[in-house]
Amino acid sequence: MEKKKIVIANWKMKLNVKDSLELAQKYAETITEIADKEVAVCPSEIVLTEIKNIIKDSPVKLGAQNVFWEDAGSYTGEISASMLQEVGCEYAIIGHSERRENLLENYEMIHQKIKAILDHSQIIPVLCVGESLKDKELEKQDYVIIEQLQQSFSGVKLLPNQQVIVAYEPIWAIGTGQVIKPQDAENMHEIIIAALVDLFGVDIVKNQFRIIYGGSVNNKNAKDFKALDNIDGFLVGGASLKAEEFLEIIKAL
Ligand code: PGA
Repeated sequence: MEKKKIVIANWKMKLNVKDSLELAQKYAETITEIADKEVAVCPSEIVLTEIKNIIKDSPVKLGAQNVFWEDAGSYTGEISASMLQEVGCEYAIIGHSERRENLLENYEMIHQKIKAILDHSQIIPVLCVGESLKDKELEKQDYVIIEQLQQSFSGVKLLPNQQVIVAYEPIWAIGTGQVIKPQDAENMHEIIIAALVDLFGVDIVKNQFRIIYGGSVNNKNAKDFKALDNIDGFLVGGASLKAEEFLEIIKAL
């Protein structure tokens, strides 16, 4: 498999419907020539269908910010992987630290969500892992990340055509403007790769996984990550809310 670098925009719940549609339109006009990279936007679920329509002739692909772990049934308010696929999603963020914190998403839920995506759709899961400031101060970050990976992927089997993205997002760097030193991100990506190799074996990790970084990436610091071997892309929050800045980040990688 050719492993293209990928840059994913996570709009969170930062824009209303009107502003989301306008920004999608700007993406479609601005992000045009990016043949060597993959780019995706994850807007709120309420605008997924309309945004798919707006970006359909552009290279920007659609992603979701969440998914439910069952595929159909009496689950008020939830959206399944196959429904996301029906509206054109090709990626889904799983286990973002904001959901782990605000919605008490636990290991088991995240594990079930990954399985649901792989079992019921062709969507690529984007699993977020990351340590808190406290973990970092106690120098527990390696242990925490390995634990998150083991719990999320235990018993998960990948078919040869399935891909997975792991987004390393140190919680203390999200939305804070406090960026990790690129070399520290690279070191953590190496730890992530080693943990994944234990779970899946070298070939699967080499061919089917991409490891991306997220946390206060912007058009100034993005280029600092370019030379690193094990950084396959970015998950971008705040800086993805302006199409021009997001394009600069894509180009910088
Ligand atoms: P940020 O968010 O770029 O605003 O730090 C990243 C994320 O939470 O995915």
